[in-house]
Amino acid sequence: MLLLRPPGVYRVDRDTALLTDVLRDRVRGRHVLDVGSGTGALAIAAAQAGAASVTAVDLSRRSAAAAWLNSRLHHVPITVRCGDLFTPVRGRRFDVVVANPPYVPASDQSPTRYRIARCWDAGHDGRLLLDRLCSGLPEILTDDGSALVVHSEVCGEQATIAAMAAAGLDARVVARAVLPFGPVMRARAALLEARGMIVPGQRVEEIVVVAGERR
Ligand SMILES: C[S@@+](CC[C@H](N)C(=O)[O-])C[C@H]1O[C@@H](n2cnc3c(N)ncnc32)[C@H](O)[C@@H]1O
Repeated sequence: MLLLRPPGVYRVDRDTALLTDVLRDRVRGRHVLDVGSGTGALAIAAAQAGAASVTAVDLSRRSAAAAWLNSRLHHVPITVRCGDLFTPVRGRRFDVVVANPPYVPASDQSPTRYRIARCWDAGHDGRLLLDRLCSGLPEILTDDGSALVVHSEVCGEQATIAAMAAAGLDARVVARAVLPFGPVMRARAALLEARGMIVPGQRVEEIVVVAGERR
């Protein structure tokens, strides 16, 4: 898919692709929210797969602008909002929430100041955004709504399943892919080894898509 990507906006990667494959079968006729939309790749895929409506939210103004431009480029109607997580759509409900949030463990706990690193840095355990996202699901999902979230095994699939369960969702892993570390994970390998988050010498990670459905 041709996507405009200004500097500082996440380049579509293998996690985007894995989640895209999963969401295509689950969004027809549904109202979809893509949180942390970057270029809008997931939002556009949802619209092309027959979603009833698609809303994309990103904290970064450049990403929101890119998602809007890309939706026009691909002739799909997407509503784009800029802001933190669910704040720009507070009070609304969606049938399906899709997210490829920042999930790479970082040396700092607080969100980074650097624009591009905001796409992946996610606190010491990689769960800074993931846990906020999971705990916010009850307020954003319709009664039969579901969430599709992609992340690395390094920040814990069981932790996501437990966080979704605490939010009233039945959750399980619906897709997996073992992939060599990309440049960010390679650069963090020593930190992750020192923290015991990967075994010494490990340079592959499993990417998982966790699906949660409201009970
Ligand atoms: C890994 S990128 C994913 C981009 C796109 N969804 C994809 O799969 O290609 C994570 C995105 O989350 C955005 N983001 C980071 N913190 C956020 C927050 N608190 N609220 C909304 N978006 C956020 C980043 O700007 C970035 O675009």
